[in-house]
Amino acid sequence: MRFSSRVDHIGGGAVAAWDIHNAAQAAKRRGEDVIVLSVGDPDFSTPAAITDTAIAALTAGDTHYSEVSGRLNLRTSVADWHAKRWNVPLDADNVMIAAGAQNGLFTAAQCLFQPGDEVIVLDPAYLTYEASIGASGAKMVRVRLKSEEGFALDSEALAKAITPKTRAFFIANPNNPTGSVLSVNELHAIANLAVKHDLWVVSDEVYADLVFDQAFVSISSLPGMLERTVTVGSLSKSHAMTGWRIGWMIGPKDLIAHAGNIALCAIYGVPGFIQEAAVTALAESESIVSEMRTIYRRRRDTLCDIVEQAATLRVLRPASGMFALIDIRRTGMTANEFSWALFRAKGVSVLDATAFGLASEGHVRVAFTVSDEALEEAGRRIVAFAAEINSSAAVA
Ligand SMILES: Cc1ncc(COP(=O)(O)O)c(C=O)c1O
Repeated sequence: MRFSSRVDHIGGGAVAAWDIHNAAQAAKRRGEDVIVLSVGDPDFSTPAAITDTAIAALTAGDTHYSEVSGRLNLRTSVADWHAKRWNVPLDADNVMIAAGAQNGLFTAAQCLFQPGDEVIVLDPAYLTYEASIGASGAKMVRVRLKSEEGFALDSEALAKAITPKTRAFFIANPNNPTGSVLSVNELHAIANLAVKHDLWVVSDEVYADLVFDQAFVSISSLPGMLERTVTVGSLSKSHAMTGWRIGWMIGPKDLIAHAGNIALCAIYGVPGFIQEAAVTALAESESIVSEMRTIYRRRRDTLCDIVEQAATLRVLRPASGMFALIDIRRTGMTANEFSWALFRAKGVSVLDATAFGLASEGHVRVAFTVSDEALEEAGRRIVAFAAEINSSAAVA
C-alpha cells in the first residue's frame, strides 16, 4: 500500500538518537545499575495542589468533551500570565490550549508554512523541529552556531540565511540542548530581521521559567513583534507535568482561530480535568517554579563541577534548563561512540547531541533529571570513563 510523501519528512536521524535511551530504560527495568541521563523528564512528582485539582474535577464528573481550543478560564489565565509578565495586551482569544508545547509547535507549523517555504532554525535545534516543519511541506534551513562561542547567536549568518522563500524563524529560547538564553541584544537582532523581512517568529519558551543566570525576555514583548510572534509554552518542564500533555500557543487572534480548526480535527480538545489542574498550576506558579529552578541550578553546578575535572572533556555550563552539553572531541571518539562506550562501561546513558544538528556534533547531552546523589555518581563515572579511554589511547 502507498503512503503520502509526507511520511518521508517525519522520520529521520532524530528517531535513531533514542536507541541508547531505550536500551538504558530496558537495562534499568532488568534491574541493572544504570543512571539514565538521556531524557528531559523531571524526576519530581507533579505538585500536590495541581494533582488534587485534577482529582476533584474528575470526581465531580469533569470527564466529558471539553472546549476544543481550551476553556475560557484557562485561556484567560494563560493570557493574563503572559500579558502581565511582558506588559503586552492579550486576552483569551489570543490563546489556544494545546496538548503540550509539541502540539503547539506542530499546529503553528501547519497554520503558517507550506511547500516551497523556508523556515530558519538555530542549529543545534530541538529534535522535533525538523519533522514538525517538514510535515507542513516547508524546508528547514539551519544556521549553525559555534560551540567555541557558547552557541551564541550569529546574527550575520542569520541575516544571510534569509531568502525570498523565508517565512519564519523557529527558535527555542531557552535552547535545548545548549541551555543558552538569547540576550536582549540578540533578541532585538532577530526581531529587526523579522520586521524588515515580514517574517513570523515561532518562539518555543518551554524552559523560560528555568533560567538561572541571566534575564529572560520573551521576543513577543519587543516592538513590532506581538503581531508576528507565536509563543509556545507548557507546564511540562517548569511544573513537572510532562505526562499531562498541557501547553499553549499565544498569537494573533486570526492565527489562533485557524489553530482551533486544526485542534478540531487533530485532538478535539485537551481533557477538562487537566485544564482545571493547569489553572491551579498557573495560580501557584511562583512558588512551584522557584523551587524547581533552585534544584536544577544546584544539579547543574554539581554535574558541571565534577565533569570539569576530566582533562579531555569540556562541559558547557548552561544558563538554563535541565541539560548540559559536554564537548567530547578531545577523546578522539565520535559522540555516538562515546555515548555507547560510556553506557556499556559505566551504565550511564547520555544522548549523542549530533541528533540536534551538526553544530553539536562531537558533544553529548546530559540531563540532570535524577537525584543529586545519582548525578554525582554519574559525574564521577563519566570522569573515570574519560580518564580510562585517555590512558588506553596513550598506551596504544
Ligand atoms: C525545546 C523543547 N520544546 C518543546 C518540548 C516539548 O514539550 P511538551 O512536553 O510541552 O510538549 C521540549 C521537550 O523536551 C523541548 O525541549
